[in-house]
Amino acid sequence: MSPTLSDIDIFKGLNQKQLQELSGLFYFRSFPAGKNIFMEEAPGETVFFIIKGTVKITKAFNDGTEIIVDIIRDGEIFGEMSLIDLVTRSANAITQEDSMLCWTGHNSFQNCMDKMPIIAQNLLATLTNRLRHTNEKLSMFAKLDVNGKVAWTLLDLLERYGKELKTGEYLIPFRLTQGDLAGLTLASRERINHTIVNFKRLNFISIDENYYIKVINREALTSLSNI
Ligand code: CMP
Repeated sequence: MSPTLSDIDIFKGLNQKQLQELSGLFYFRSFPAGKNIFMEEAPGETVFFIIKGTVKITKAFNDGTEIIVDIIRDGEIFGEMSLIDLVTRSANAITQEDSMLCWTGHNSFQNCMDKMPIIAQNLLATLTNRLRHTNEKLSMFAKLDVNGKVAWTLLDLLERYGKELKTGEYLIPFRLTQGDLAGLTLASRERINHTIVNFKRLNFISIDENYYIKVINREALTSLSNI
């Protein structure tokens, strides 16, 4: 049995025998940061899982700008939408840091779901969570200014992936550049730079040389993102 498959969200609830049966169907490989795993509009023939690492889901415009639909991490699935609706990839998937991924073909994944219906139930829960998250973000972003959008985004990433440090500060445990924050908040890089400089000056956050963000004053960000 591959111990790692038991950490994948949509395989929660499967027993050892079922996990063992699945493990033979998957390919495992590590990818360096910045690797395009697939591009928007490519045919979707495989479904991917993040064993360890971070992947950003993006959409690009003709003028070169990019929005980040979401950043996903350990245990999460991507590339499942093409499996469900048989349409081409709805977005790009790019590793945000060195990542260990596994994947399988659509047919074998479909067979797994047919044999183990709990996988399909877990997948539905994941899709529902993503829709809730997108709805929440849309409704907040309709009301917030750029400072509020950056604060909301940092708190959102903290809530989902953050680590509390012994110092009482909170770490977003992966590289997050100003370009990424622009992509996540749909704001210009100039506005993001202005906000980040301000947040650092006010001691709300600090950023190290590897672009890891520490939140020092969580309350201040919370009040900026309250509507
Ligand atoms: P697919 O359309 O095959 O390829 C792009 C993938 O991005 C898609 O499947 C999903 O796995 C993922 N994706 C699309 N929209 C979102 C979202 N709102 N949140 C998280 N992941 C998404």
